[in-house]
Amino acid sequence: MVKFETQVGIIGAGPAGLMLSHLLHQHGITSIVLEAKNRAYCEERVRAGVLEHTSVEMLRNAGIAHRLDREGLRHEGIDLGLHGYLHRIPFVELTGKAVTVYGQQEVVKDLISQRLSDGGDLRFECGEISVHDFEEDRPSIHVDKEDNVDVISCDYIAGCDGFHGISRSSIPPRALTVYDRTYPFAWLGILAEAAPSREELIYMHHERGFALYSMRAPRITRLYLQCKPDVDLAEWSDDRIWNELHTRLGCSDGWRPTEGKILQKGVTGMRSFVVEPLQFGRLFLAGDAAHIVPPTGAKGMNLAFADVHYLAEALRAKYRDNDEAKLDAYSATCLSRIWKAQRFSWWMTSLLHLFYDASPFDRKRQVAELQYVMSSRAAATSLAENYVGLPLD
Ligand code: FAD
Ligand code: DHB
Repeated sequence: MVKFETQVGIIGAGPAGLMLSHLLHQHGITSIVLEAKNRAYCEERVRAGVLEHTSVEMLRNAGIAHRLDREGLRHEGIDLGLHGYLHRIPFVELTGKAVTVYGQQEVVKDLISQRLSDGGDLRFECGEISVHDFEEDRPSIHVDKEDNVDVISCDYIAGCDGFHGISRSSIPPRALTVYDRTYPFAWLGILAEAAPSREELIYMHHERGFALYSMRAPRITRLYLQCKPDVDLAEWSDDRIWNELHTRLGCSDGWRPTEGKILQKGVTGMRSFVVEPLQFGRLFLAGDAAHIVPPTGAKGMNLAFADVHYLAEALRAKYRDNDEAKLDAYSATCLSRIWKAQRFSWWMTSLLHLFYDASPFDRKRQVAELQYVMSSRAAATSLAENYVGLPLD
C-alpha cells in the first residue's frame, strides 16, 4: 500500500475534473486527478462542440484560452429551420453575446497540457477506484491496480467521473433524489472531412426527423440525424447517411451540406437526468456525474464548467477564510442553474424533434411554436439568452 496526501481528490479527467484541478491550482489548493482511461482516449473522444459565452469567459479568466482564441470559431447566431426554410436567431443583436465552436477534446487537450506544465498530478489508467469515509473529516480514495493499493487521503473528494462513474453510486441511494426522463429517439452523429459550406449551425425540424448541421474546424463538419435509440449502425452506410442528411437539411434556396469522407460515426442516447443534492458529506458531484441533458441545447460541457466554477470558489473560501458557507450552498447554487439548463434543453428538444407518437394536434402545436419563435423577437431573445449561457451569479 502506498499513501498519498492532497487537499482535493478528483475522480475523472473530463472537462469537469481537469478544469476543477486547474482552478484549484490557481487558488493554491492541491489536487490529484484520477482517471480510468488513458490520456489519448481522453484527448480524442469526440463529444460536445459549442462553448457558451459564459464558458469562454471562464476559460479566458483561467488563462487557458490561447488556442481557443486562435482556433475557435465565433458564431454570432444560429439558423432554425422548418421544412427547408431558415430563420436566423442573431445572438449578438439580441443579447450582445456570441458562442464559440471548439471541440470538447480540444478543451481537454488544453487543460491536460496546462496541468502538466504546472506540475499537476494527473494519473491516467489508474485502476479500480473506491471512495471511503466521506462522512468523516478525512476521506480517502483507494486505487487498486495489479495487486497494489494506492490510498489518497484528502480533505474533500470531487466526483467528476461522468454519468457511469462510481462517485454518485457510492452515495447511499436513500440520500439522493433522482429526476430522470428518457426520450424515444437518439442522435446519429458523424464527423466528416468536408469544409463547412455555411458559417453557422442549422437546427432543422423536418417531417422525417430532426437534423443538425455543425462544424469543428475549417475543414471538418459535424452532422447529426435524429434516429431510433436502438438503431443499428451497420444499417447506415455512408451513402444512406448522406442521402438522409440531404433530404432533411436541404434548403429552399438550394443549399445542401457538402459531402466528405466520414471519419467517425456514433449514436448518442437522449435523456434528462438530475440527482439531488450534489453533496454527501465531503463528497461533491460535478458535471455529468450529477446531471445529463439531451444535447439539443449544447449545454452538457457548459454545465460541467459552471459546477466546477462554483466548487472551486467554495473551496477557495474554505481554505482562504475558513468560510464554509459556499460549500454548504454548493448543491443549491448549482441546482438553480442546472434546472434552468434542463428546462432549456428539454424545450429545444421538444421544439425540434419528431415525436413518433405525437397526435395531429401535437404536431400542429409544435409547428406553431417553432413559427412563433421564428417570428417573435421576444421568443427569439429568450432562446438566444439561454443558448449563449445565463450569467454565473
Ligand atoms: P465526462 O466528460 O464524462 O468525464 C468523466 C471522466 O471520468 C471520463 O474521462 C471517464 O473516463 C472518467 N471516469 C469514469 N469512471 C471513472 C472511474 N470509475 N474512475 C476514474 N475515472 C473515471 N454535450 C454537448 O453539449 N454537446 C454534444 O454534442 C454532446 N455530445 C455528447 C456525445 C456523447 C457520446 C456523450 C456521452 C456526451 C455528449 N455531450 C454533449 C455531453 C458532454 O460531452 C458532457 O456533458 C461532458 O463531457 C461532461 O463532462 P464531465 O467532465 O462531467 O464528464
Ligand atoms: C453540436 C452539438 C450540439 O449538441 C449542439 O446543440 C450543437 C452543436 C456539435 O457537436 O457541434
